Amino acid sequence: MKKHLFCYFASALLAASCSSAKEGQQVATVKDHFKDDFLIGAAIPVRHINGEDPKADSIVSLHFNSIVAENCMKNEVLQPREGEFFWDDADKFVKYGEDRDMAIIGHTLIWHSQLAPWFTVDKDGNDVSPEVLKQRMKDHIYAVVGRYKGRVKGWDVVNEAIEDDGSYRKSPFYRILGEEYIPLAFQYAHEADPEAELYINDYSMFNPRKREAYVRIVNDLKKQGLRIDGIGMQSHIGMDYPALDEYEKSIVDFSGTGCNVMITELDMSALPTVQMSADVGSMAKMSPEERKEAMKKFDVYPDGLPEEVSKQWNDRMAQVVALYKKHADKISRVTWWGTTDGMSWKNGFPIPGRTDYPLLFDRNYNLKPFMAEIIEN
Ligand code: XIL
Repeated sequence: MKKHLFCYFASALLAASCSSAKEGQQVATVKDHFKDDFLIGAAIPVRHINGEDPKADSIVSLHFNSIVAENCMKNEVLQPREGEFFWDDADKFVKYGEDRDMAIIGHTLIWHSQLAPWFTVDKDGNDVSPEVLKQRMKDHIYAVVGRYKGRVKGWDVVNEAIEDDGSYRKSPFYRILGEEYIPLAFQYAHEADPEAELYINDYSMFNPRKREAYVRIVNDLKKQGLRIDGIGMQSHIGMDYPALDEYEKSIVDFSGTGCNVMITELDMSALPTVQMSADVGSMAKMSPEERKEAMKKFDVYPDGLPEEVSKQWNDRMAQVVALYKKHADKISRVTWWGTTDGMSWKNGFPIPGRTDYPLLFDRNYNLKPFMAEIIEN
């Protein structure tokens, strides 16, 4: 079944010189390789849409058939003040995808983070009433989903609703509306564009407690007759987590709800895993000198990834992609949270100022060896 390849260029050549491919020749691409399996997506930052990273643009146009907005469709960007919308970047993002005939994914409608500060409070800073919040959610979702009706294939309707212990995150949405905010968000999104696919999305989806919570939530939504098409597993992973058997269980159980499984924000840090509360919390209290010293422990490859670590990273990523391939009947999209290592949010999170190597292309726009090997064969 593979794949109309007439010629293969070495991976280093691929990104840099796709335009130099002679007429009649075709390069092996990631999206072609997986075309019978799942969509291949990338998160796109505004500078990319604005033409400030032409090499990333070539990569995306060549290797990906789906895009998601890295930031420009988030609540704080689209509606910074009540009733005042900023559409310029999101409009350009959608057009970018349409020009390249891509599956365009909207991210995200209801999320506690990157939420406009006014959204859940009154003018004195107190929580608004449930009725007011419902109306604001409805207005926001109607405006955003309505604007791109028929153009955006699917929306991350609710993002990061569940804590690691499986309980509801105590976000302002939950505090004011309780569990009901999730079905409401799905109802509003469906009303705004009945054809759009609707997804629920979160990180650490390999965690058994989160797995159980989401299976329950999705089944409840379906029981209520609400539309939900996909469960998004963000998949910001590391060299030492997740255990692939737990990851696989989630893929299988999520698919058991009848939803598509989507890998929505894939990246794998090559750096030592940071413990959020212990490490990040203690660094916040350090003096600049102490911080500089501590960084040596966390920012271990500032000048490039050692060969041996690169091999480990590539070997593990090959296993991860093999897992997706094994479950290609359940997985409808694999989206990387960016394109090249240099532009990844992981360089700034959870500790700012590190040099990480988490994406499909390196800082020189070369396809990573594990994937070059896959699409070559
Ligand atoms: C990140 C972006 O990549 C950063 O540029 C931004 O500063 C913070 O948000 N989970 C999500 C994404 O759902 O929206 C986040 O994106 C990464 C974690």
